[in-house]
Amino acid sequence: MLARRFAVSAIGFVGLLVLIGSDWPAGHWRSDRGVDAHAERLLEEGRKAFRFDTFGDEAFWGGELRLHDAIQGEEFGGVGAGLSPRTALGLGLKVDLDALSGGLAQRIRQGRVDLDDPATTLALLRLDAVVGVTGFFDERGERLQAVGIQCALCHATVDDALAPGIGHRLDGWANRDLDVGSIIAFAPDLDVLAQLLGVDEDTVREVLRGWGVGKFDAELVLDGKTEGPQGSAATLIPPAFGLAGVNLHTWTGWGSVSHWNAFVANLEMHGQGTFYDPRLDDATKFPIAARERFGHVRSEDDRITPKLPALHFYQLALAAPSPPRGSFDAAAAARGRALFEGEARCADCHVPPLYTEPGWNLHTAEEIGIDDFQAMRSPDERYRTAPLAGLWTHQKGGFYHDGRFATLRDVVDHYDAHFRLGLSGAERDDLVEYLKSIPEDH
Ligand code: HEC
Ligand code: HEC
Repeated sequence: MLARRFAVSAIGFVGLLVLIGSDWPAGHWRSDRGVDAHAERLLEEGRKAFRFDTFGDEAFWGGELRLHDAIQGEEFGGVGAGLSPRTALGLGLKVDLDALSGGLAQRIRQGRVDLDDPATTLALLRLDAVVGVTGFFDERGERLQAVGIQCALCHATVDDALAPGIGHRLDGWANRDLDVGSIIAFAPDLDVLAQLLGVDEDTVREVLRGWGVGKFDAELVLDGKTEGPQGSAATLIPPAFGLAGVNLHTWTGWGSVSHWNAFVANLEMHGQGTFYDPRLDDATKFPIAARERFGHVRSEDDRITPKLPALHFYQLALAAPSPPRGSFDAAAAARGRALFEGEARCADCHVPPLYTEPGWNLHTAEEIGIDDFQAMRSPDERYRTAPLAGLWTHQKGGFYHDGRFATLRDVVDHYDAHFRLGLSGAERDDLVEYLKSIPEDH
């Protein structure tokens, strides 16, 4: 008994000595610094991946579709007339002002650069100045041998500081000017997509051109569906900011940011990596994906998986930007907020400050009063409560997953009818002002 008590206090004594002898709290402080340094590294690497990593997808966009040949045109060894900067800007491609030399920026400002010459596009690609597109040139830097795309192609834009389409990068913003379908349709060889979908190349081009500006159809290569009750089956490009704390992602809640990043990099961008999602084996819902075993992707040289942690971290670090002063009526927004959280019951689903449900944030089509076409193309067959912060940055293209509501007022009118809210016209205007004001300055 005595021996046992002695043993217990001896252990306690030794424990105390260990504690005194350790460098806590100095070690604790050191580990905080370790965390900070790790965070900084992830942020830097994630930003780089988001902006510049093609994950090897040039083997698809260049190697298979030969998009680079259409860009450089016959004059430079490609095909056709080539892609002039004016046409590229018209298709919604953006130019990173910070990648241009001072002299070049100055000449563009003075109108002394030929925007109708594909050679200028090639010069911009050499500078890595086309947002979301990387050109791979031969050793002499002359001929374009392939192009690859990045996340920033669709999920970034620029602030138009120099001219429309030319400015400083705004990562995470949805590029609602981008005509993705027409850009892909511009590629000379769409055989690989035609084979996948079991149609001819002309049909592929027609489907792609039918998507519309600011849209893309991520499910096309899974189920081959091209049309729904609202027309084209494409969905709007959503922002990639303001996602921290949000559970499920994409319009129809496929999974978390990390799931979708792996999905997109492998199956949409056609990078070289690893992807596992046995839900895609459902041949009724995803005939193409099941046949092609898209839920079981393995590459010998995995160029995606090592990038995923940093890419995830960077996206979560992108805050939804606050609206510029004067872009909404503050008094009306304050009244709108009271309605949003009270009588109009919007906050039942859009819980501030996430503006989606903390938890399982999905709803049936019926609950929100729309058709279930797009929801049924996803494993959960639901629509995800859209996080609303930064709505003011993507008013072009409309609202809801397919842009069916042209304005925020149309969205509010829809809810008023569907939930029988009985809001007056002035109350609806107040709600709209509030929607434009999220997130308030912080
Ligand atoms: C060709 C355009 C395009 C490219 C390139 C692209 N995305 Fe997307 N992204 C979309 C579209 C369209 C959706 C909506 C898809 C859906 O709901 O079916 C989306 C959805 C997302 C979402 C969900 C956002 C939300 O509302 O929760 C995230 C996160 C995302 N993309 C990240 C990425 C990352 C990371 C990359 C690069 C690895 C990338 N995307 C590349 C078009 C693109
Ligand atoms: C039952 C849950 C629920 C309620 C209540 C609700 N919403 Fe929504 N909201 C959703 C879902 C789900 C979506 C996504 C719909 C889609 O993408 O098709 C959405 C989308 C939106 C959008 C479009 C976002 C975008 O990026 O296009 C706006 C704006 C919006 N809601 C505002 C409101 C307002 C205002 C109210 C109150 C009048 C409200 N919501 C009430 C679930 C809800």
